[in-house]
Amino acid sequence: MKTVQDYLNGGACDIAPLLSLVLGKSNTQLYAQNDYALGDKQQQQLENFIQQREQGVPFAYLSGKKGFYHLDFKVTKDTLIPRPETELLIDITLDLLNKNQKYQVLDLGTGSGIIAVTLADINPRWKVSATDFSQAAINVAKINATTNINFTQGSWFGAVTDQAFDLIVSNPPYIEESDPYLDDLTHEPQTALVSGKDGLDDIRIIIKNAPKHLNKNGYLLLEHGYNQQQKIVKLLNKAFHNIKNFKDYNNNDRAILAQIK
Ligand SMILES: C[S@@+](CC[C@H](N)C(=O)[O-])C[C@H]1O[C@@H](n2cnc3c(N)ncnc32)[C@H](O)[C@@H]1O
Repeated sequence: MKTVQDYLNGGACDIAPLLSLVLGKSNTQLYAQNDYALGDKQQQQLENFIQQREQGVPFAYLSGKKGFYHLDFKVTKDTLIPRPETELLIDITLDLLNKNQKYQVLDLGTGSGIIAVTLADINPRWKVSATDFSQAAINVAKINATTNINFTQGSWFGAVTDQAFDLIVSNPPYIEESDPYLDDLTHEPQTALVSGKDGLDDIRIIIKNAPKHLNKNGYLLLEHGYNQQQKIVKLLNKAFHNIKNFKDYNNNDRAILAQIK
């Protein structure tokens, strides 16, 4: 029989959080009760998790949740794991729009729902809609919703054909199909990550069709790859103005905001 300390000494990847997960104990309890001997079932589950982490399965898929902004989100293998960079889209939106006014906001490609759910939770007066072409992802986002959000399934604007919004926000797939970084992301849905040769296939579709779905003076806010800013500005120039670029916490170009002309 192995104790908590035996496992901690073993040094497996994420061993302390994995022990916390299996035993339902906080980090402090774990170290305070390090002579606790695991039962057979607990040991079996822990060994299984250790093996999965060794194979690269992200911790969030084992715990089934991930924190984003001020909320915890359920995640499954049908949803991208929320990234801290995406919190930038929330900050930009909160700086842009007045909390007390009523706005129609659309989150395109909502995944686990982080953008739509966070914005709706902070701004109960806003009417928030969210789409994804993955029904499985929408089902997870619905569980994560803390307020009323209008979820619809479909490819980009196909999910909201006759509707218009004051803000369209999206963290679309934007990785180039040949990017070697994808080798580290094999456990997440590739359709949430990859977007053609230059990573811009989906962004092109969104920029081309957004004007039909924006109210007067409406905004489009996109997350993008660190090296895509200039190309996206060119795509926006025809129909948009007041284009603003934003860097993430690592000082990489990461988001772009534009207002319809
Ligand atoms: C990068 S993930 C972002 C998920 C979530 N918004 C987030 O920030 O964690 C892109 C999302 O776009 C969705 N998606 C991909 N292609 C789509 C399409 N053609 N129409 C609608 N959604 C799409 C994926 O299913 C995925 O949920």
